[in-house]
Amino acid sequence: MYIILLGAPGAGKGTQADNLSSELNLPHIASGDLFREALRKETELGLLAKSYMERGELVPDEVTIKMILHRIEMPDCASGCLFDGFPRTLAQAEALDKGLADKGKSIDKVIYIKVSDEELLKRLGGRWLCRNCQTPYHLITAPPKVPGKCDKCGGELYQREDDKEETVKERLRVFLAQTIPIVDYYRGQSKLIEVNGNQGIQEVAKEIMLLLKAK
Ligand code: AP5
Ligand code: MG
Ligand code: ZN
Repeated sequence: MYIILLGAPGAGKGTQADNLSSELNLPHIASGDLFREALRKETELGLLAKSYMERGELVPDEVTIKMILHRIEMPDCASGCLFDGFPRTLAQAEALDKGLADKGKSIDKVIYIKVSDEELLKRLGGRWLCRNCQTPYHLITAPPKVPGKCDKCGGELYQREDDKEETVKERLRVFLAQTIPIVDYYRGQSKLIEVNGNQGIQEVAKEIMLLLKAK
């Protein structure tokens, strides 16, 4: 199965991907995590992505598409994967369809996690992430067992540079302008599943599993 998790910044894509990838046994492919990893290693890709990410803008399609199409050539994606944060523009969605079609594959379902703007701001304001495995935590809604440490791997928790209020506002603006159009693209392909993301983490996870099984 090839599944896409779609949603605004802070909607819970990474949080739900953790759960879904273990439930469905699919590798988790997160474009943002791949860029941050490249940045940590100071590769050419990382340095290019940095300037866009710190402004809350999208990294150019050409670069992003190339990175993801390369990633899905890896053997772990041969029979499916879970996309998080990609595609985010119509050009990316079309390139992904084409890349998969060339392998005789296609997207099965697109899960759109809908969350109010007010809630998104609260979530990003309190978010901490594991530097090592990228698991997201939240000071109030999903605290780690030991403060500052990842439950899964003991890694150090940190706050993302782009979670500053002004940058978050720009990321939300970019989402509305550039990513919302792909909701209709997938609705038109009858692949869209809409989920109420304004619920607790477990409730959202349950709703996703129910809707995936129903379709
Ligand atoms: P990316 O890393 O993809 O960030 P994003 O889309 O802005 O989304 P986030 O990771 O901020 O949110 P999330 O939905 O994963 O929420 P999370 O689960 O952490 O992209 C970053 C940047 O990289 C972009 O701005 C761009 O520059 C570049 N980029 C990436 N992909 C690109 C692409 N395809 N094209 C071009 N550029 C690209 O949850 C948030 C918080 O809420 C956490 O603290 C969590 O614990 C908490 N939480 C989650 N769910 C719940 C719940 N149900 N109830 C209460 N709290 C919850
Ligand atoms: Mg994320
Ligand atoms: Zn960790």
